[in-house]
Amino acid sequence: MKIIAYGIREDERPYLEEWAQDQGIEVRVVRELLDEQTADLAKGYDGAVVYQQKPYSGAILDRLAANGVTNLSLRNVGVDNVDADAVKRHGFKVTNVPAYSPAAIAEFTVTRLMQLLRRTPTFDRKQALGDLRWAPDIADELNTMTVGIVATGRIGRAAMKIYQGFGAKVIAYDVYHNPELEKQGIYVDTLDDLYAQADVISLHAPATKDNEKMLNDAAFAKMKPGVWILNPARGALIDTDALIRALDSGQVAGAALDVYEDEVGIFNTDFGSFASIPDERLKNLMERDNVLVSPHIAFYTRTAVKNMVQYALNNNRDLIATGHAENEVQF
Ligand code: COI
Repeated sequence: MKIIAYGIREDERPYLEEWAQDQGIEVRVVRELLDEQTADLAKGYDGAVVYQQKPYSGAILDRLAANGVTNLSLRNVGVDNVDADAVKRHGFKVTNVPAYSPAAIAEFTVTRLMQLLRRTPTFDRKQALGDLRWAPDIADELNTMTVGIVATGRIGRAAMKIYQGFGAKVIAYDVYHNPELEKQGIYVDTLDDLYAQADVISLHAPATKDNEKMLNDAAFAKMKPGVWILNPARGALIDTDALIRALDSGQVAGAALDVYEDEVGIFNTDFGSFASIPDERLKNLMERDNVLVSPHIAFYTRTAVKNMVQYALNNNRDLIATGHAENEVQF
């Protein structure tokens, strides 16, 4: 059995090498991402392990299939960048890693909310200028608030526990109801109900065609004035222009954004200076004290990276050996 692994970063390599040695399986490490050219490197391999934010387009998957590789294991959870038609056309078996560390995302999300509520960006900025006064930057307490969780998958549920630990009231919306949470009476019937009641909205949904820009002008207008928005999920869930309008009007008190609709090619890049970041809307958001932007780092912990690499390799091994794996994704 031979596996090729694309887009391997230095922080992933030790976990990959550890797995290959333990399993006695040959894994070729490729630093480049999977594209129409690098797909040719897969010839002679039984499966490919991948992670990238750029699309796995029809043309790329055509090329991979032409090289005889249709076992594709993603090292991450989101599959929104995979061309579903090409998957079906060639009979690809695709796996993801749905639970590499829900806690990583949940802990980061709540950390950012606490920074916003306690106004730490403002105090840090003032202190750097020698200003040690309190007013007017009085804070808010999470234990007095209602948090609305959008989507109660593993990450949403992990975040929920932390919010409850802080003493917040938690409500949730999801099309699918988790039986345990149902018993606890956590669910509201509609998103509008959640918007009407929540002081904080914590997004944990995958990106689909149906929820693109779900937080738009109309949605913000239905929320409580002064609501806090947290998005560690997918940039496509928020209409960025509408968010900027809602921040300007004060309808939204602040936001923590670990994702951004135009992040591909921008996040995880060093531009050398703030001025050189080639996205004016993003810089507009980054310059505000009440907005915390981060470059899609909620997942980036040692635990998560190890699990992403090794669970994806396990999936690919199982696909090759048996035609099935625990985390097969249906397209
Ligand atoms: C995912 O797992 O889909 C993520 O969003 C994290 C990614 C940046 C590795």
